[in-house]
Amino acid sequence: MKTLKLDHTVAVVTGGNGGIGLGIAKGLAEAGAAVVITGRDAAKNAAALQVLQRLQPNCRAEICDIRDRGAIQQLFRQVRETLGPVDILVNNAGIAIGTPPEDISEADWDAVLDTNLKSVFWCCQDAFADLQDQSVSGHPGKIINIASLYSIFGGARVASYSASKGGIVQMTKALAVAWAPNEIQVNAIIPGWIDTDMTQAVQDDPPFYKNILARTPAGRFGQPEELAGAAVFLASQSANFVTGVILPVDGGYSAG
Ligand code: NAI
Repeated sequence: MKTLKLDHTVAVVTGGNGGIGLGIAKGLAEAGAAVVITGRDAAKNAAALQVLQRLQPNCRAEICDIRDRGAIQQLFRQVRETLGPVDILVNNAGIAIGTPPEDISEADWDAVLDTNLKSVFWCCQDAFADLQDQSVSGHPGKIINIASLYSIFGGARVASYSASKGGIVQMTKALAVAWAPNEIQVNAIIPGWIDTDMTQAVQDDPPFYKNILARTPAGRFGQPEELAGAAVFLASQSANFVTGVILPVDGGYSAG
């Protein structure tokens, strides 16, 4: 078996200064990767970086709005100059705006699709040259996209979010097929309901919250750190022949 260790690799986790992104970043750093988290908030970046550097001193934090294509390109240039080519890209940053479909504004639709789908594509394309460059680490390139249960199920108030996350699944498969000859593996994780800022309003709504618990075989929300095991596996050389897979980490929700 190939190792699950990520020593000498460089990973980028978008939106990695909190929530699921930080849970995954901690797992990658613990496995030995130099992790670069990106976010828009300097104070949140600094707090998360303190945690990560205790696990792997080479971790970094960069300010980057992933809706800004120029900023994404600058990010990968900077990472290459300071740490070397990116081996692992985790496309985690995302937003949800809950509105009945008949009331969604064009600005909100664009904000969700631009952040959750369009930016993810540009991150993949802009990282492509680095991901296929194994000259430094010898590690095949890995992309891990964060999808959603709404990639599978419809949500009455999240048509834009469902569209974006459904698109993530198909884009993951398309890139997996296109880039398999380049030795880049592209997979997605479907997190179940996870305890983060994004789900706080749901957790504060007793009927909605109870309904989710009843619908989740594990009977609880997951914690961000519970995504780390799947991410480390997909980022590792143990997954060199695993590509185009959509892996639920959801307490059994999608099995029911
Ligand atoms: P969160 O709100 O705690 O984290 C989202 C992160 O994305 C934040 O750090 C935010 O600053 C960043 N972000 C948003 N727009 C950005 C932009 N334009 N540029 C840079 N960073 C940006 O939410 P959570 O729950 O940690 O979500 C992470 C990912 O997991 C998202 O893609 C979300 O859709 C997905 N997800 C979350 C689930 C949950 O139950 N929490 C379930 C399924 C998927």
